[in-house]
Amino acid sequence: MSMLGPWGVFVEGFIEHPVMVGSIIPSSRYTITKMLAPVDWDACKVFVEYGPGVGTFCRPVLDRMRRDGLLIVIDTNPLFIDYLKRTISDNRFSAVHGSAADVEAIVRAHGHDHADYVLSGLPFSTLPDGIGPAIAEATFRVIRPGGAFLVYQFTAAARDFMTPFFNRIDKGFEWRNVLPCFLFWGWKQEPGEG
Ligand SMILES: C[S@@+](CC[C@H](N)C(=O)[O-])C[C@H]1O[C@@H](n2cnc3c(N)ncnc32)[C@H](O)[C@@H]1O
Repeated sequence: MSMLGPWGVFVEGFIEHPVMVGSIIPSSRYTITKMLAPVDWDACKVFVEYGPGVGTFCRPVLDRMRRDGLLIVIDTNPLFIDYLKRTISDNRFSAVHGSAADVEAIVRAHGHDHADYVLSGLPFSTLPDGIGPAIAEATFRVIRPGGAFLVYQFTAAARDFMTPFFNRIDKGFEWRNVLPCFLFWGWKQEPGEG
């Protein structure tokens, strides 16, 4: 297994858990650039990513993040977490084997009450019943006012999970991805805003 590159590890993860992984091809650089564009990196100390897979977004996030920042990634697949721990050595990086539903406890365990931004590549529409709403609610609670939930998915289903909590959701679309995907930015507004 340790001989496999990122593509091999991603395909192996997909073959083992196709419903949980939801895609056989990692996100394109176009999706990454567009998704991360609205982030205010100077104001970002804690960035959380759900479902990093083989880390397609991790290096681009670390490249943009301040020197005292923290990137916490959470994935249910131990194969991916093991791969990320072996291949990314950056003292701002922490890979956690667990569920996005437990984000609040995971952020607290890293010494923080809130995250500035949360990014999700989760296949919301195929997650087991009840998990999508629970993740959206926990995510809203963990994000600080002024922060955002960044979501990309092949269907627009993710927005249905975000709508009960985020009253401002910006929308985008990226064709240059296999498959083309929807992008959403759910903003947690400051008190008195909106
Ligand atoms: C489509 S892949 C995302 C791949 C990668 N982020 C990319 O852009 O190429 C979805 C990932 O979500 C993970 N996943 C599924 N359910 C999860 C959950 N409840 N919490 C955290 N990760 C989960 C899967 O193991 C998989 O790594």
